[in-house]
Amino acid sequence: MDYTDTSARLQHLREFEPRLNRPVMMKVQEFQRNNRLKHVIFSAQFDRELLDRLTGLATMIRQLARNRRGSRLLRETLCDKSAMLHFTQASTRTFLSFVRACQHLGMDYAEIRNPAVSSAYKGESDLDSIMMFSTYFDTVILRDAMPKLAECFAYKMNDMDKPVPIVNGGSGADEHPTQALLDYYTIQEVFKFRDREGDPEADDRNLGRRLSDLRTRWPNLRAGLDGKTYLFCGDVGRSRTIRSLAELLAQHEDVSMYFVGPEHPRLSVTADLQSDLVEAGVTVYERPALADCIEQADLVYMTRVQHEHDDEEVAAFLSQLDRQRFILDRRQLHKMREYAAILHPFPRNDEISPDVDSDPRAMYFAQAENGMWVRAALIAHLLDAESEIMLRHQDFFKKERRSWNEQ
Ligand code: NCD
Repeated sequence: MDYTDTSARLQHLREFEPRLNRPVMMKVQEFQRNNRLKHVIFSAQFDRELLDRLTGLATMIRQLARNRRGSRLLRETLCDKSAMLHFTQASTRTFLSFVRACQHLGMDYAEIRNPAVSSAYKGESDLDSIMMFSTYFDTVILRDAMPKLAECFAYKMNDMDKPVPIVNGGSGADEHPTQALLDYYTIQEVFKFRDREGDPEADDRNLGRRLSDLRTRWPNLRAGLDGKTYLFCGDVGRSRTIRSLAELLAQHEDVSMYFVGPEHPRLSVTADLQSDLVEAGVTVYERPALADCIEQADLVYMTRVQHEHDDEEVAAFLSQLDRQRFILDRRQLHKMREYAAILHPFPRNDEISPDVDSDPRAMYFAQAENGMWVRAALIAHLLDAESEIMLRHQDFFKKERRSWNEQ
């Protein structure tokens, strides 16, 4: 079987069709286990309580990992567990941050990135492959060009009663829940309005001063994700990261979203996402250019054009398009609010010019780093190590404080 022949691969997955065709809200229960996630397929699985739990855990992991002794403790947590990273679609950050997440937790991992050198080349079906992975590994993290493959794998694990969490690391153009998680973590950090000169590790010490300074200009500004205006720019119709993140942000109160994308039915915000957002109480605007709304934004989320999903018609449309309207350069930067942050899931093409990188509002490198911590938190959650990490963290910092006090 040719691995790139999606229709041949889909034949093997036909048994799941009735389950795949249900609305997301009818599916989430099957991916839960008591108070915990069993598989991670959609961002709709993360409610605000779980988001706070995971981002809190990510911070604990980060604090432990940055200390030599803390990192040793952390590496004991899951030293008996292993992960399979099946990434057959191009990836740098998602793949590497999952690798580093496993390493921080002391896990073994293995990877397949090129199906041409695995048994897929000899015609093995995706379902046989996942059954094999689940005999060797405790969790399977995958990225595939085929939409919904991760979801099918999760059903297969459930049907076979295999307790192996499946994590969707990006499926087709539809969902990228772990990217949404790291974006959310970054946005939470940004909207704490910490003093920029402060030590980033000093956590809550600097809370408050910067926000009260900013309030002299923006009196309604408050900490947290409620009451914010989010701007999404680029290939808003085909970006799986925008879709997954927007669904999470919509859980907050008093949220507005601007979508800036080309006027084409496949590239502008999709009707289903828009109606989900409106139903959740979000005020949605569409604008033809970044310059039209960048001044209103508390956060600007840029994306590249996803050419891998182009057909001839879209490619022809894009080749005629004036791309300048969707580019963030120093001219646009001057119009942005002083505190507003710039995010980008990366890779970037030309939509953010490199001279923006040194601006303190450019958060995309910190965002990529956050992916490593929050993915480690997610793996720990899935493999039942959450409370162990919390205890180790508590214990470690109690001892650290004591030894400081004794000095
Ligand atoms: C994104 C993806 O793969 O969807 N990248 C990522 O995971 N960091 C965005 C993109 O490819 O444009």
